[in-house]
Amino acid sequence: MGDRLMLQGVRADFTGLERPVHGRRLVYLDNAASSQMPRQVMQAMQDFELDRRANIHRGVHARSQQATDAYEAARATLAAYLGADATHELVFGSSTTDALNQVAFGLSDDTDGQPWLRPGDEIIVTALEHHANLLPWRRAARRSGAHLRVLMPQRDGTLATAALAELLGPRTRVLALTACANATGYRPPYEAMMALAHQAGALTVLDAAQAAAHEMAPLRVLGCDFLALSGHKMHGPMGIGVLAGRREALERLTPLRVGGDMVEQVGLDDVRWAPLPARLEGGTPNVAGAVGLAAAAGYLQAHGRAALDAHVAALRAQAVAGLTALPGVRVLEGGGAIVAFVAEGAHPHDIGTVLDGAGVAVRTGFHCAQPLHDHLGLGPTTRASFALYNTADDVAALVEGVAQALEMLR
Ligand SMILES: Cc1ncc(COP(=O)(O)O)c(C=O)c1O
Repeated sequence: MGDRLMLQGVRADFTGLERPVHGRRLVYLDNAASSQMPRQVMQAMQDFELDRRANIHRGVHARSQQATDAYEAARATLAAYLGADATHELVFGSSTTDALNQVAFGLSDDTDGQPWLRPGDEIIVTALEHHANLLPWRRAARRSGAHLRVLMPQRDGTLATAALAELLGPRTRVLALTACANATGYRPPYEAMMALAHQAGALTVLDAAQAAAHEMAPLRVLGCDFLALSGHKMHGPMGIGVLAGRREALERLTPLRVGGDMVEQVGLDDVRWAPLPARLEGGTPNVAGAVGLAAAAGYLQAHGRAALDAHVAALRAQAVAGLTALPGVRVLEGGGAIVAFVAEGAHPHDIGTVLDGAGVAVRTGFHCAQPLHDHLGLGPTTRASFALYNTADDVAALVEGVAQALEMLR
C-alpha cells in the first residue's frame, strides 16, 4: 500500500497537521502518546453538544432521551468495532489508566463481599507494561494480600510463552499484559498467553491502548476477560476510554466510583448497584467523548485497519533502515507503528529538541515503562510513532533530523 492510496483524502481531515511549528511543516510522529483527531470526530462531538446535549438516563424529556440514544449508539458502535458479542459488555470511562484502575480495584476490594483476589493468590504482570498496567496491580496486591509476580522479558525485550507457563500456578488469579508495548512497539503473543492463563483459572486483562487502532482479533474469539483502551490514541478525543469485557467478569468488579446513576436503590444504610454497564459508570459520563470515540472508530473502520497496518509497517521499515544506517544508532526490537532507538554520545532529550526545531515531533524518555528500560540496561530512548496520515517524506525528515542532531551533539 503506497502513501498515495492511504492518503487519498486523509491528510485534509487532520487540519492540525497544516499548522506549522517553529515555522516548519509539522511532522507529527508522536502518535503513540496521542494521535491527531480528524474533523469528522470533532463534527460528531459538536453536533452532539450543540444539538442534542442533555444529561442521559435520568430524564423523561425528549432531549435527554436523544442524548441517551446518542450515548448508547456510541456504545453499540464501539462494541461492534471490538467484535463483542452478547456475552460482552462495554463500559465507558476516561482512559486506559481509568479502566485498569477499575479492574484492579474491583478485583481486590472487599466492601461488596469476598473479592476475586485473596491473601496468597498471585497476579502476573509483565515487565513490558506501561505504569498504568503495573501500579494498579501493585496496589491490588497490597490491598488483597496477593503476590505480584513479574514475567521478565528476554534480553531483546520479547516475551516467551514458555516462561509464562512456568510462572502460572494454582494460585494465579490474574494475568495482566499489554497487546503492544508502548516503549518499543513489540507485540507479545498475547492470545496464546491469555489461553494459558485461562487454563490455569486466571482472569485475563489486556491493555489495548496501543493496539486498538490496529487490527486485532474480535473480542468474541479473543480469550480475554477485560480489555482497556483510550480514545486519544485512536484519533478520538481525550478524556474518554473503554473497559470492555465478558459480562461475567465485569460483574465481579466492585465499582470504583460510587454515586449517581450507578445504583438501583439506595437507603440510608444500604445500597443495591444497578446492572451493567451503569453500575461501573458512576456520575455523568463524557457523552460527547463517547460520541467522538465512536466516530473515530468509524473513521478507522472506513479506512481499513489492515490497510493502516500495512501503511505504518512500511513507514516503520523505512525508519528502521534509515536510522540503523546512521553511525552509533541502535533500534530496539519492536514493531507495529513504533520505532524506538538509542544513539551513542547523544541524549534522547537533546535529539528530541533538535528534531522539534526541525518540526519533527517525537517522544523521548522512559515512556512510562521504567522497569523495562532498567531490565534492558537502557536509559531513556527516542520514540517515533506513525499513523495513517504519515508519509515517506515524514520518515525521511525524521532520519535527516536525527543525522543532523548527531552531528551537532557529538
Ligand atoms: C500501553 C499503554 N497503556 C496504558 C497507557 C495509558 O493511557 P492513558 O494515559 O490514556 O490512560 C498508555 C499511554 O501511553 C499506553 O501506551
